[in-house]
Amino acid sequence: MRCSDSGPATPGLFDDLDVPQPTRVENLGPQSRVLRGFALPWIERLLPALETVLAEAPFRHMVTPGGFTMSVGLSSCGQLGWTTDRSGYRYSRIDPQSRQPWPPMPEAFRQLAEAAAQAAGFSAFTPDACLINCYRPGAKMSLHQDKNERDYSAPIVSLSLGLPALFLFGGQQRSDKSQRVPLLHGDVVVWGGVDRLRYHGVLPLKDGEHSLLGQQRINLTFRQAG
Ligand code: SIN
Ligand code: FE2
Repeated sequence: MRCSDSGPATPGLFDDLDVPQPTRVENLGPQSRVLRGFALPWIERLLPALETVLAEAPFRHMVTPGGFTMSVGLSSCGQLGWTTDRSGYRYSRIDPQSRQPWPPMPEAFRQLAEAAAQAAGFSAFTPDACLINCYRPGAKMSLHQDKNERDYSAPIVSLSLGLPALFLFGGQQRSDKSQRVPLLHGDVVVWGGVDRLRYHGVLPLKDGEHSLLGQQRINLTFRQAG
């Protein structure tokens, strides 16, 4: 029974308890948004799809051109996957580990990414690459720009799953001050347009246990790369 069905009516007081809540939107910049909890209604479709992708293309620790092994485990799905090794950063149609094409982008991933881009003001986003990052406690991502994509007119759509993290959102220069944005399971960040090349990164992940994903944070970034 709903509370509002009985007793003296206080119109509207409990009316919204069992209807989906609109996503809370936070602006990080003129064309950057955090869509709080945007992916929560999709989780039951996203997690099995993620498992299928990772069975085909498991996380691996790649080496940067400078010779450092990344603390974050990486995988990809879609037509193009992002890779790094001693010879540079690039997108490739082939997973260098399996020597096979990357797993296809699951339909639920594509729909979520397009819906989030739309909700953040970017219509006609059609991702051809999804980079999957796995953070265990202590793993981090240094400040960087996403600039291996061919065309910067499409936004970056970034989905957080599992343990919370502190996302750094900086400016157009590495030395610009960064905002620290807590990102929780189900949050989606979208940045594009004038904000497309802003520096960003992730502080070392704090230890914890997430009810669905355990001791890790998984981040998916959707891009129009080719
Ligand atoms: C990235 O910049 O590729 C990852 C960002 C994140 O993990 O939130
Ligand atoms: Fe990035």
